[in-house]
Amino acid sequence: MEFICGWLLMLSAFVSGTAEAVENGLGSEVGLLMDTAKEAEFFGWMRSVRRRIHEYPELAFEEHKTSQIIRSELDSLGIEYSWPVAKTGVVASIGSGKQPWFSLRADMDALPIQELVEWEHKSKYNGKMHACGHDAHVTMLLGAARLLQNKRDELKGTVKLVFQPGEEGHAGAYHMLKEGALNDFQAIFGLHVSPGMPTGTVGSKPGPLLAGAARFSAVIKGKGGHAASPHVGRDPVLAASLAILALQQIVSRETDPLEARVITVGFIEAGQAANVIPETVRFGGTLRSLTTEGLLYLQQRVRQVIEMQAAVHRCTATIDFMEEKLAPYPATVNDEAMYEHAKSTAEILLGQPNVHLAPATMGAEDFSFYAQKMPAAFFFIGTKNETLKSDKPLHSPFFVMDEEALPIGAALHAAVAISYLESHAVEGL
Ligand SMILES: *[C@@H]1O[C@H](CO)[C@@H](O)[C@H](O)[C@H]1NC(C)=O
Repeated sequence: MEFICGWLLMLSAFVSGTAEAVENGLGSEVGLLMDTAKEAEFFGWMRSVRRRIHEYPELAFEEHKTSQIIRSELDSLGIEYSWPVAKTGVVASIGSGKQPWFSLRADMDALPIQELVEWEHKSKYNGKMHACGHDAHVTMLLGAARLLQNKRDELKGTVKLVFQPGEEGHAGAYHMLKEGALNDFQAIFGLHVSPGMPTGTVGSKPGPLLAGAARFSAVIKGKGGHAASPHVGRDPVLAASLAILALQQIVSRETDPLEARVITVGFIEAGQAANVIPETVRFGGTLRSLTTEGLLYLQQRVRQVIEMQAAVHRCTATIDFMEEKLAPYPATVNDEAMYEHAKSTAEILLGQPNVHLAPATMGAEDFSFYAQKMPAAFFFIGTKNETLKSDKPLHSPFFVMDEEALPIGAALHAAVAISYLESHAVEGL
């Protein structure tokens, strides 16, 4: 309790304005971090790291080369790390080694998308692309590593840099936690690029920011036969069609209109011939909610509705939520105090008008697993630049990112960590 009060007291000093923060030295310290990260040599190094990772995108749990690039940069900086964690993950340590342990996180995996941007550093792997900015996330964290290593003797505790695999639907964060890689960490901060916000701005909100997400896959089994004799068979195509329609009522009729929930069926696989009733139909999709309870409710109802609709049509259904392989993502909920801490640090770094309150969205992030275990804040960092036309959405084959955001991300990561450790040191006095 005491430590929380001490921390909040410090926080209120930060929040009360840039002027005071500058007075107590934080403003100038934070300003120096940004100046260093923007120096030509530093920026050039970050850009080349980002471009190298961009050229060799790797999918979930296959990030061997990416992990190797990270380790060789950490080696050059003289930073110690553990590896492998969850196959390809790396957890580096900077500072005294003593508590508090504050963590910064980046995800490493790419997407199964063919890059359609023609440029010098286009993906060299067919069908794979860093279209979600994880190449930038890794680079920002390496930039922060270099900034923090320069100040390692002044850190009032330890900064843990978490490079994790498999964010894109594979719950890499869950596996990092399962291996105990974040035991005894006190709090965590993460960044995600946003092509919807101009470079030089960041945004987030306290409380729920991103949806919890689960997947399902259903098989409806009927009795196949000749299309001309439907009465002899049992038609799984009709059963699946009505099941998919019935799923639409769960959000429209059973959910509080002021609560956000989504059910989307994304694929259907039925037979191959126009004159055959197939034996089975397979379909599946995603379920999303801003609360974990909401997600559990959707899972339960999706199962009931599909099983019962199948029964209405004399078919049977099996539903798989694939939880063994793909743990459902909880909602990403920002801790209020951590959010305030990161926000006030960002305001000092970027100026108050460049720090926005961002709306919650139904996207999902496995950062949520960390946020379930410790106070966490997740922020979006703008990468939109009119000149570069870097406003294509995440997951688009045309995604481009403004590399000017790299030093900003590095400085913000470092500043949030340093100020967190400083505010905790107060409590020890
Ligand atoms: C956008 O990018 C161009 C080219 O790199 C640069 O000259 C310009 O300053 C950038 N604009 C902003 C607002 O960052």
